[in-house]
Amino acid sequence: MPALGLGTWKSAPGEVGAAVREAVRAGYRHFDCAPLYGNEVEIGAALADAIAAGEVKRDELWITSKLWNSFHGRDNVVPAIRRTLADLRLDYLDLYLIHWPVAFQERIGIGYPKSGADFRAPDEAPLADTWAGMEESLSLGLCRNIGVSNFTATKLVRLARTAKILPAVNQVESHPYLPQTGLLRHCADNGIVLTAYAPLGSGDRPARVRAADDPVLMDDPVIVEISARRGLTPAQVMIAWAVQRGTSLIPKSTNPARLAQNLAAASVTLTAADMTAIAGLDRGHRFIKGALWTIDGSPYTQATLWD
Ligand code: A2P
Repeated sequence: MPALGLGTWKSAPGEVGAAVREAVRAGYRHFDCAPLYGNEVEIGAALADAIAAGEVKRDELWITSKLWNSFHGRDNVVPAIRRTLADLRLDYLDLYLIHWPVAFQERIGIGYPKSGADFRAPDEAPLADTWAGMEESLSLGLCRNIGVSNFTATKLVRLARTAKILPAVNQVESHPYLPQTGLLRHCADNGIVLTAYAPLGSGDRPARVRAADDPVLMDDPVIVEISARRGLTPAQVMIAWAVQRGTSLIPKSTNPARLAQNLAAASVTLTAADMTAIAGLDRGHRFIKGALWTIDGSPYTQATLWD
């Protein structure tokens, strides 16, 4: 898996196709998708066009997508991945992830819960059963790797008790204010790649996931000082740091100049002193709290989600 991929959450329909074409031309080979992002059909068309134009071959691409929360349960996984493959116009995914360790009622479809009645509790939809469906999608050749997203080390350990195949990847929020050092160590010790989402602090996240006390990562004085001294942008410093500490990452951009800038940053080397200074920024600050999954009446709480 190329360490740097293109994130597509919040990439608007009407814009994302052009961004994907531009990214392929710039040299991106890893694309991170999900049905929830509402843009897989447009991404699929862009990828098909890039392949037809001879800009890239399918086997040079790494395409990730995810199982939405309404399709937990062993028998729902294969139909869900088949729908995503049709939308993306692909025969297989390189990586299929459980998007969240949270189950909704199937009737929610690709959408959000509104009340406690819209959830399935962990004992009604055990992650072990969903994982068995993920393993089935792998054995059918619908994907080449399977993994999880938003899993804590506690949940990884629990899953490993019944899994026949261990997750290849755990995709979680990670950036200098939430480096997830302990989880990264657990993943490395268990052969799991940690992919960092919101690696730039997700400044364009929607209002429903904003909190009044959220800091602005891009303005952090330590990041700004390193970037000025090194002739880099703050985003490039955070990308170089993420690659150098051994994570994969999926910064999102739909802007051609920033797409190129971000890719170039993956080959920048920071000094040990700068790496240490950035490591010191840890505030345990989560921008994406999953608060919509822990509304009143939900069987999930912030404590159980982030156990
Ligand atoms: P844009 O798409 O206009 O480039 P994250 O990956 O953490 O979710 O952050 C995505 C946000 O960061 C988007 O608002 C994106 O805007 C912005 N962004 C991406 N790359 C850069 C960059 N190199 N410099 C500044 N902002 C960036």
